[in-house]
Amino acid sequence: VNHLLGIKYLNKKDIQLIFETADHFKEVINRSIKKVPTLRDITIANIFFENSTRTRLSFELAEKRLSADVVNFSAAQSSVKKGETLIDTVNNILSMKVDMVVMRHPNPGAGIFLSKHVKASIVNAGDGAHEHPTQALLDSFSIREKLGDVGGKNIVIVGDILHSRVALSNIFALKLQGANVKVCGPKTLIPKHITSLGVEVETDLRKALEWCDVANMLRVQNERMDISYFPSTREYTQQFGVNKQLLDSLDKQIVIMHPGPINRGVEITSDVADSDQSIILHQVENGVAIRMAVLYLLASKIK
Ligand code: CP
Repeated sequence: VNHLLGIKYLNKKDIQLIFETADHFKEVINRSIKKVPTLRDITIANIFFENSTRTRLSFELAEKRLSADVVNFSAAQSSVKKGETLIDTVNNILSMKVDMVVMRHPNPGAGIFLSKHVKASIVNAGDGAHEHPTQALLDSFSIREKLGDVGGKNIVIVGDILHSRVALSNIFALKLQGANVKVCGPKTLIPKHITSLGVEVETDLRKALEWCDVANMLRVQNERMDISYFPSTREYTQQFGVNKQLLDSLDKQIVIMHPGPINRGVEITSDVADSDQSIILHQVENGVAIRMAVLYLLASKIK
């Protein structure tokens, strides 16, 4: 398959191969060799129908470090605003001899839909509340870097599980690698079917933190929800926010993660986000090596 549409379509060996390839690229970057000629004859379009800082910039950096030619498309400044469809938009971009498309879109399944209608490799950079595969890969890669093999580790994903593509992709990736996974958050923000994915639900944050090796803190995605579903921000922070006092009261030191963007003082306080327990900026750093690996492996099937 010439696409990365979701972790759901990968197996454990695929993930291992991506990590080994990312290890290599990370080593190359760390040797201050910021550019390799690997994708010199490949052109990649990054098409974003939703806002992004980390994903868009790290894909672009990954592409440039692999020497691909890059074009960036932002829906807000495009002819999508004049009514052009997704398929027409992408087919017009592809007619300019583009080989791969990295797409973020607000609609779940947009990448899967596109992959059935256009002739190019599609990489899902986040599709609504569905999947964000490269985020889950960089998250597991960061856990592996900090704690070793992800298999057997206790990971809790805290927050708005219902609207989170990061949560779903992480659950698929962590379960494939043999991790024990719990989700923790208000009942209104946890989908009923979640236990069918092999994860447990814990609504008491302290218990979840006492159990885990790693807590992945998620932002409440107000933009994807009817405000009436949601406890007030103050109540949310009281019950599901992590702060230094809470972490210091545990009898072990856990690893704190966050995919960003952070709402400081809501799901996580600054003294935790910026502490030695946090690997948040390592996650961002690893995003470039993981995306280089994904693009390299997909492009090797095109060449
Ligand atoms: N983690 C993540 O997807 O961040 P951006 O929305 O800024 O890309």
